[in-house]
Amino acid sequence: MARGLDNNMQRWASLMVLAALGTAVTATTNPGIVARITQKGLDYACQQGVAVLKKELEKIKIPDFSGSFKIKVIGKGQYNFYSMFIHEFQLPSSQIKLLPNVGLNLIIENANIKISGKWKAKKNFIKASGNFDLSLEGISILSALKLGCNSTTGHSTIFCASCSSHMDSAHIHISGSSLGWLIQLFHKKIESSLQNAMSSKICEVMRSSVISKLQPFFQTLPVTARIDNVAGIDYSLLAPPTVTADSLDGQLKGEFFRLGHRSPPPFAPPALAFPADHDRMVYLGISNYFFNTAGLVYQQAGVLHLTLKDDMIPKESKIRLTTEFFGTLIPQVAKEFPNMKMQLLISVSSPPYLTVHPTGLDLSPALEAQAFAILPNSTLASLFLLGVSTNISVKVDIKSGRLIGELKMDKLLLQLKHSDIGPFSVESLQNVMNFLLPTVALPKINARLQQGFPLPLPTHVQLLNLLLQSHQVVAVKKQRNTETQKSHRLLSEGQSQRQMSTLNHQLHPSDTVRGET
Ligand SMILES: *[C@@H]1O[C@H](CO)[C@@H](O)[C@H](O)[C@H]1NC(C)=O
Ligand SMILES: *[C@@H]1O[C@H](CO)[C@@H](O)[C@H](O)[C@H]1NC(C)=O
Ligand SMILES: *[C@@H]1O[C@H](CO)[C@@H](O)[C@H](O)[C@H]1NC(C)=O
Repeated sequence: MARGLDNNMQRWASLMVLAALGTAVTATTNPGIVARITQKGLDYACQQGVAVLKKELEKIKIPDFSGSFKIKVIGKGQYNFYSMFIHEFQLPSSQIKLLPNVGLNLIIENANIKISGKWKAKKNFIKASGNFDLSLEGISILSALKLGCNSTTGHSTIFCASCSSHMDSAHIHISGSSLGWLIQLFHKKIESSLQNAMSSKICEVMRSSVISKLQPFFQTLPVTARIDNVAGIDYSLLAPPTVTADSLDGQLKGEFFRLGHRSPPPFAPPALAFPADHDRMVYLGISNYFFNTAGLVYQQAGVLHLTLKDDMIPKESKIRLTTEFFGTLIPQVAKEFPNMKMQLLISVSSPPYLTVHPTGLDLSPALEAQAFAILPNSTLASLFLLGVSTNISVKVDIKSGRLIGELKMDKLLLQLKHSDIGPFSVESLQNVMNFLLPTVALPKINARLQQGFPLPLPTHVQLLNLLLQSHQVVAVKKQRNTETQKSHRLLSEGQSQRQMSTLNHQLHPSDTVRGET
């Protein structure tokens, strides 16, 4: 079906990852994610959708019909047309156009239908029969598709708001025995009957295809996605999609929530400043609200902690989690707890908050490191508690339709919050912590982030063959705000092997950046 599309069609879409810009919170609920489909995206979707529609149209059953004739000299007779089937429904030109404030217009022009069937005729005692071919030409179909949103479920909805069809001409060719010439005499009447029968069927099929094929496809857009035992993501639509002359934007909630303990976050989604860009097929604007609800949920669930043990440290390293080694830096440790292993519990003391800088996305988490000595009977003896602050840069990427991340940790700033072994200078621990966190703790966090988080894509839609590029866009907005966008562009050149619903995307994540306010 989609065979012909694979070769010459460049199938790509773009994805843009945007941090929210606005600081003002308006009365309406702002989206955490905006999904934009542009005319280019629709052009692609059109090829896929029309291939499905064509199959449905080809299944149209044409009812039998009969008529009578009466000619001087010859007298009266009857004819029947039956066993009619469509052997070709050609749709050479179809478009899906944005219909501002409504939805989409499906425009099909110059379509033609080839129908074959049988006829039989009777006059007095003479019976005759044969085959016929009918071609209907210059068919146009105009259908408006209204997009909406089920406010209970947050699913998008689509239905056929209007449909009309028109045919320029019909030509019948009768073949067969003795009375064929006679039937041909009535071709005008026969042609117009078949033309009317087809016209009314076409819009019937349009309407039912939207309900039976398109609506279920929209239903596969996830409204919630379970991520793990702790969290899910709410991707429900906040309002009916907004349609302008350039794009169709879906405002999605884009919020992490705790499974079984859902409560509204203590911060509201900021207005998402989405660029007017519409050069690519698909854009996804992801607000920092999305990331911050993730941080909040995982922190509140108490899962943002990690225990570092000596056996996690590379063998060749001089730095060890032992009282002997720490004793070289803080003599009391070795004195009070000789020859013991240690462990370090790293935790996040307040929800990590994502901020945006010209170089990309940054986290400045408040971390704590609690050090213990492991006593011979396995009891943990508390040694000291450090406050650890650092800047972490976040690189966002897409893999297999999932949003993945990679963190890079800057230098750590330590502060002694509590000591069970008397005062000491945290300076002495600087090098050790600067080794342990980035080389032992961080890879574990990154391994989790590489598993990624699902994006709101319909089933079977895949993002394939991605390549990353970067570019910067600088925009100046509103009085004192300077906004810079840094974006990574993922290009896809590859071919998709999947059926109609497979999209091969070019992605274009862009981190929008807020300067000083
Ligand atoms: C919204 O979805 C629910 C559950 O599927 C359904 O019962 C309801 O009729 C839908 N509402 C509208 C307006 O379509
Ligand atoms: C483990 O040993 C320490 C020190 O010897 C002692 O204070 C503690 O009660 C012991 N804990 C258990 C569970 O035996
Ligand atoms: C994080 O970055 C900010 C801005 O560059 C800087 O002021 C701050 O000192 C940094 N924090 C740490 C812990 O390095």
